[in-house]
Amino acid sequence: MTTTDKIALERVTSNVGAVINGIDLRLPQSAQTIDTVRQALINHGVIFFRRQDISLEQFWAFLENFGRPQKEEIKGTDHDRPSDVHTADMSPSRYSTATWHADTTSLPRPPLATALRAAAPPEFGGDTCWSSMYAAWDALSEPMQQMLDGLTAVHSIKPTAEGMEEYGHLFLADYEARHGGDSTHPVVLTHPESGRRALYVSECFTTRIVELAPAESAAMLAMLFRHIQRPEFIMRWKWSAGDIAFWDNRSVQHYAVPDYTEARVMQRIVLAGVKPGEPSALQPVGVS
Ligand SMILES: [Fe+2]
Repeated sequence: MTTTDKIALERVTSNVGAVINGIDLRLPQSAQTIDTVRQALINHGVIFFRRQDISLEQFWAFLENFGRPQKEEIKGTDHDRPSDVHTADMSPSRYSTATWHADTTSLPRPPLATALRAAAPPEFGGDTCWSSMYAAWDALSEPMQQMLDGLTAVHSIKPTAEGMEEYGHLFLADYEARHGGDSTHPVVLTHPESGRRALYVSECFTTRIVELAPAESAAMLAMLFRHIQRPEFIMRWKWSAGDIAFWDNRSVQHYAVPDYTEARVMQRIVLAGVKPGEPSALQPVGVS
């Protein structure tokens, strides 16, 4: 049985975000529905499905339509299963991502996309924001775009590890054993599916622009980190129980607002990625 509900897209802002109504994610989806979802994700950067009362297996099965799910990108393996997915308490004291980022761009192959389901969100607070890197790039002046085009930047997990008080050094040693050290990626990507250009440096992971002198790099990155926070590039989502956000790490950055003290229990699954700038597509594994 496949869903026959009518799908309706509700834009959140003009630059980023769309809610997809009329899909029951407990059911297998038709090829046409999957294509509509894929296009919405590529065009709007982040999409939402409201109040989905689904199991982890159903969540995982839905994501298999778009790539290879992993329980998480740092320790994930080829053999990850839905039962491995953490239903994690992401309270600020335990898990802080209060800097703008696309997920784990410190990796040689960062995840293509991330899906997050609110199992038990706080009553208020704990929103997530997304910023469109298409819009951020488009808003730069042409001379600035010309200067940045072709540059590369170092992305590192070290600042995050150093922010972990007790276990940072163990985390970093384990990370480096699995994945090697820092990664170098283009400062601007051409999105392989939309053809649009997207800024690809983040406050959380990007430590320097390789081709610039240290002081030039620091000044340029400070300007870009501030630039991507302009409200016209950004949307903000207040979570209700069961809400799913599904975002394209090639075209948006996100920020988890740490303004709550209650538990914030979330289920997070990523889709395995490729080297940024290389061809990639949101499609089931094995399809080419
Ligand atoms: Fe994140």
